[in-house]
Amino acid sequence: MPTLALDAAALEKLVSAAVAAPSIHNSQPWRFHLQPATSILEVRADRTRAVPAADPQGRALHISVGTAVLNLRVAARRLGWAPEVRLLPDPAEPDLLAAVRLDGVAAASVPDTEKLYRAIFHRHSIRTPFTGEPVPSAVLDELATAARAEDATLHLPDQAETARLLHLTAEAERRNTTDDAQRTESRSWIHTGDAPPYGIPLAALGPQDLAGHLPMRDFAALRAAEHQAPARFEREPRIAVLTTEHDSPEDWLRAGLALEHVLLAATVHGVRASLLHQAMEWPYLRWEARDPHQGPGHAQMLIRLGYGPEGAPTPRLAVGAVLDRGEPTPDA
Ligand SMILES: Cc1cc2nc3c(=O)[nH]c(=O)nc-3n(C[C@H](O)[C@H](O)[C@H](O)COP(=O)(O)O)c2cc1C
Repeated sequence: MPTLALDAAALEKLVSAAVAAPSIHNSQPWRFHLQPATSILEVRADRTRAVPAADPQGRALHISVGTAVLNLRVAARRLGWAPEVRLLPDPAEPDLLAAVRLDGVAAASVPDTEKLYRAIFHRHSIRTPFTGEPVPSAVLDELATAARAEDATLHLPDQAETARLLHLTAEAERRNTTDDAQRTESRSWIHTGDAPPYGIPLAALGPQDLAGHLPMRDFAALRAAEHQAPARFEREPRIAVLTTEHDSPEDWLRAGLALEHVLLAATVHGVRASLLHQAMEWPYLRWEARDPHQGPGHAQMLIRLGYGPEGAPTPRLAVGAVLDRGEPTPDA
């Protein structure tokens, strides 16, 4: 039987799963605070690790925190709880992004919980070429179902629409690598040698596309010597677009939950993913990324899916550095 005590061991498991989530530039812009009296684990924005040049509105920060909340929910279910997740529970506290109540015991386990939980630690961002083997439509359907479960939509554009989206991404990439604030900021998150527990190790970057049709983010734009030799990427990339109906901070959080649900479901099937967020960072390009044929909706992320090596974990801040256990102070 799983233990349902919200003790140090359970907290360690929950927060370790949460922080394995993806975040823009591996900024990990989250903090966790336990309210022992109510068994609520609060998830707050940590704006000391925001990325203002790429994300002036904080949209990507909300998406990043949303991915951590999804992992927290999966881990809580796996430990036997029936977690109740509330997004933005207090309008007076906009940085309190989620409250996860952990006082209910699950009557039955939610399907796929174990698989999704294991996938948390095998999901990594891949920036190298995929094999080109197509992702079966049954798997893509499952990924779309995962997005829908979080109130988001995963679109699977045809070749012409994919080419249009990659064209927008290439334009965004051109701007990102020539805009001083953007390229200085993104380079500042790349680490070599003695790396801090955030940011992206140089080894996790990939090459640029030799054919020039897959605009992978060039984090090393300021240091040509750090570029890997360009390589051939798959000729027909499978791109998916994650959209939400509206575009409020709550929608951004939902997009984060949906993104991570999709990525974990993909990982369960051995499908790897890259995130192509560049066009989302320029308002006009992001607006253009909507597909009018698909009805109203706000693009939140482009995801490249395919097959290749699993990749390796990138550093994370220790649980103790992001968790406030809510213990009473001695004189309280
Ligand atoms: C909102 C958001 C935007 C991201 N944008 C990009 C991107 O444009 N290019 C890229 O290579 N990775 C992108 N990533 C992936 C992060 O760089 C990655 O999650 C982080 O470095 C941690 O590595 P991991 O995903 O392997 O755990 C993004 C992630 C999030 C959540």
